Amino acid sequence: PRPRPLIAGNWKMHGTLAEAQALACGVVACDAAAELLVCPPFPHLHPVAAALAGSAVALGGQDCHHAAKGAHTGDVSAWMLRDLGASYVILGHSERRADHAESDALVQAKAVAAIAAGLRPIICVGETLAQREAGQAEPVVAGQLAGSLPPGFAEAGGVVAYEPVWAIGTGRTPTEADIAALHASLRAEVLRLCGAQGAGLRLLYGGSVKPGNAKAILALADVNGALVGGAALMAADFLAIAAAA
Ligand code: G3H
Repeated sequence: PRPRPLIAGNWKMHGTLAEAQALACGVVACDAAAELLVCPPFPHLHPVAAALAGSAVALGGQDCHHAAKGAHTGDVSAWMLRDLGASYVILGHSERRADHAESDALVQAKAVAAIAAGLRPIICVGETLAQREAGQAEPVVAGQLAGSLPPGFAEAGGVVAYEPVWAIGTGRTPTEADIAALHASLRAEVLRLCGAQGAGLRLLYGGSVKPGNAKAILALADVNGALVGGAALMAADFLAIAAAA
């Protein structure tokens, strides 16, 4: 059986507190069959948790530190996210890999910390345009997975998000055939790394998912949800994507 789809909204570094609260209130009005998740910026986590209280919409962080606590100015631990009511954390997003030079090994260490705190890591992988044009998309992604998935990932409810870097925020998406082929290779790699438990592990697609393309993408084999950026900032668009799952 296909795993229950997960539609995750990554709000990135957008919005005021009032906008975050209004967006959360718009999202809770959803009755989709898919599981919904929102990942606000850190300063908005607590008020968004309050806005989501009593709803089935899950809360997540956009990153965490690999240590449980300590002298790490400006960082946030997985335990802090859990304490605020988060159940997921996005790790290794390509923007963090680029802005903060995050390596696969660091992403793996963060995932270990996340699991120890009771969070489900969403580990992001994806190739650049140059890598895709060189025919290297599948090996690049396989290498990122091998380097960043921690032991016990599937058992902890971990999720993998495939986000081609060139499709993020650009309005460009791979063809459906390319997404299907890449996700088939992701599934094979996850089965290799996690064993039989990898069969139920959710594989999300991310990169310019919109209400207009969501249905076709979410219908593909081994696409078990979406990681949505820009279109997650409008409740109506996010809910339209959720309804397509
Ligand atoms: O985490 C979300 C992705 O980076 C996708 O962003 O939907 O704005 O292309 P986008």
